[in-house]
Amino acid sequence: MMHECVIVDAVRTANTRAHQEKGWFAKARPDDLLTTVYKAIFTRNTAVSPEDIDAVFCGCANLSGMHNDIARLAWLASGFPETVATNGIAQQCPSGMAAVEHAARAIMSSEGDVFVASGVEDMLHVPLAYDYEPPPRLMWRYPMHEMPMEATAEKIAAHYNISREDAENVAYWSHKRAARARDEGKFADEIVPMKGFEEDGREFMVERDQWIRDDISFEQMSAMKPLLRENGVVTAAVSSPNTTGACALLLMNRQKADELNLGYHLKYVCGVMAGCDPTMMGIGPVHAVRKLLHRTGLNIGDIGVWEINEAFGAQVLACVRELGLGENAPFDNINIRGGALALGHPLGESGARIIVTLNSIMKTDRKDAKYSVATLCGAFGNAAATLWERVEK
Ligand SMILES: CC(C)(COP(=O)(O)OP(=O)(O)OC[C@H]1O[C@@H](n2cnc3c(N)ncnc32)[C@H](O)[C@@H]1OP(=O)(O)O)[C@@H](O)C(=O)NCCC(=O)NCCS
Repeated sequence: MMHECVIVDAVRTANTRAHQEKGWFAKARPDDLLTTVYKAIFTRNTAVSPEDIDAVFCGCANLSGMHNDIARLAWLASGFPETVATNGIAQQCPSGMAAVEHAARAIMSSEGDVFVASGVEDMLHVPLAYDYEPPPRLMWRYPMHEMPMEATAEKIAAHYNISREDAENVAYWSHKRAARARDEGKFADEIVPMKGFEEDGREFMVERDQWIRDDISFEQMSAMKPLLRENGVVTAAVSSPNTTGACALLLMNRQKADELNLGYHLKYVCGVMAGCDPTMMGIGPVHAVRKLLHRTGLNIGDIGVWEINEAFGAQVLACVRELGLGENAPFDNINIRGGALALGHPLGESGARIIVTLNSIMKTDRKDAKYSVATLCGAFGNAAATLWERVEK
């Protein structure tokens, strides 16, 4: 019999700036962040103890330095049982989503009943492309200057005719929506407070995302210098910023959750990966979503809520337009609490983080929606998408 996998709980740290002087978590290590979210899972769900976990999956884009075997080392450093196995998954930005998929599939195929799926990235201590040594032969297949992430966004903007103003409009709404969600307390249930430090050295409990700009303005954005070329579309304002954060989900066999009398709102239906040209990696979600819908027999109109990760303003807009979901931000059913442009994008964590936020949106804001999708692109052209269905308990 095929089992059902439900989300029993989903938490995250605040997303903070990955910056030596300005980052609120600059003095913490990535394993400290994971300890915070793992502990929160067990203090919030007393019917489950660490011994009950069949395995822990953890997505992280780059398992080097402080991230090396972080799933195992963070679990052990947190004081949790040695008998619980862990699995670190490195697949660029879709890593966290892959962690959730691994756990869901294990439950569905009776390999276990209770899993923690998580994600972490500390882009201060393990920066983007740290220890990166691409195969030299790749340059005969792809122009190397088109491989950096900002270059892929610039190429997408040109290919899909996306103007700098339209990309800035995406960023504007991302910040506005994230600020509103924060002010309305929408993130309160998912963010676990953790100790951090202000720029002036003052210690405080970090319970809000650091990158959200309350004063976001078109004037400021339009004055910023393009990163790569004159008249380019891509600036820091329309790029997801370097970020540190972690998240964790408690995933369970639905029968088991019922036995323990635990509540849930979403069950995992299907997850797919799709590959595309690495120099246009940002368009990957279009391929992944089409594949997902094809495999499940659903249509775009069946999906009530979307989380489409905002790696870059032009990139997410190209995906939205290609999928026929809309023309210009703000979009009714997409990233309704803002996206990575405002919330930040801790690479391998984000694929799980957008599911944390989706879970909370489906729980409180969009009770009429039956299906929801979370999707994101990844460096070098691996994209992922997951489909979730409302099942109340
Ligand atoms: C784009 C990028 C190179 C910019 O890096 P950076 O030069 O270090 O820039 P920062 O993010 O620190 O921003 C530079 C400045 O612009 C400011 N800024 C950013 N957005 C702004 C906005 N909308 N309005 C005004 N100022 C803004 C920042 O606050 C910062 O100034 P400060 O230090 O005084 O606060 C970097 O964010 C990046 O690499 N992003 C992409 C990451 C990536 O590839 N992720 C994977 C995608 S698949």
